[in-house]
Amino acid sequence: MTGVEWDMRPGEVAVALPDAFDAGLYFIGAIRTPWTTRAQCPKNAREARERGIACAIELDARYEAGLKDVESATHLLVLYWMHAARRDLVLQTPRHYGELRGTFALRSPVRPNPIAASVVQLLAVAGTRLSVLGLDCLDRTPLIDIKPYFASVDAVADAKVGWHKPREA
Ligand SMILES: C[S@@+](CC[C@H](N)C(=O)[O-])C[C@H]1O[C@@H](n2cnc3c(N)ncnc32)[C@H](O)[C@@H]1O
Repeated sequence: MTGVEWDMRPGEVAVALPDAFDAGLYFIGAIRTPWTTRAQCPKNAREARERGIACAIELDARYEAGLKDVESATHLLVLYWMHAARRDLVLQTPRHYGELRGTFALRSPVRPNPIAASVVQLLAVAGTRLSVLGLDCLDRTPLIDIKPYFASVDAVADAKVGWHKPREA
């Protein structure tokens, strides 16, 4: 399936996926990070920012014009494709939490469409290479999209995830 071993843990539930895809997408580049195993990756964008290790977004040259004005943003929303993840689990126990939860209540890469999202700090743009802080993925993870992060639109200061509350206290 993915080349990365992804065993099921007790209680986890997999479903049969549909026979065909509903849409296609273009990978627009690749993300270059120092991490080649899942265990090495930061758990999430916050841990990635805290580690302070800059990663590179390499955009396919055909899309270079689309970077016009991107350097004016301090932060970007980056969408990427967790290519090594299995896609069939609807109940799963993430390794860092140890409790069974629904896939759509989690930020796990394991989901029917393994799309990851991170808000990153933009450090530099050089041609089609962006240097950013806040990525948590394996080296050569495919890039799906780059968007400006608007704090005025996207930030919700009092947002909560109830099951995660004890960890946020
Ligand atoms: C919990 S996910 C969060 C991803 C993204 N920040 C999000 O919230 O959508 C991050 C984890 O996915 C795993 N991972 C990273 N790159 C991957 C890839 N290309 N395929 C599958 N799993 C990956 C690593 O274990 C990493 O710690």
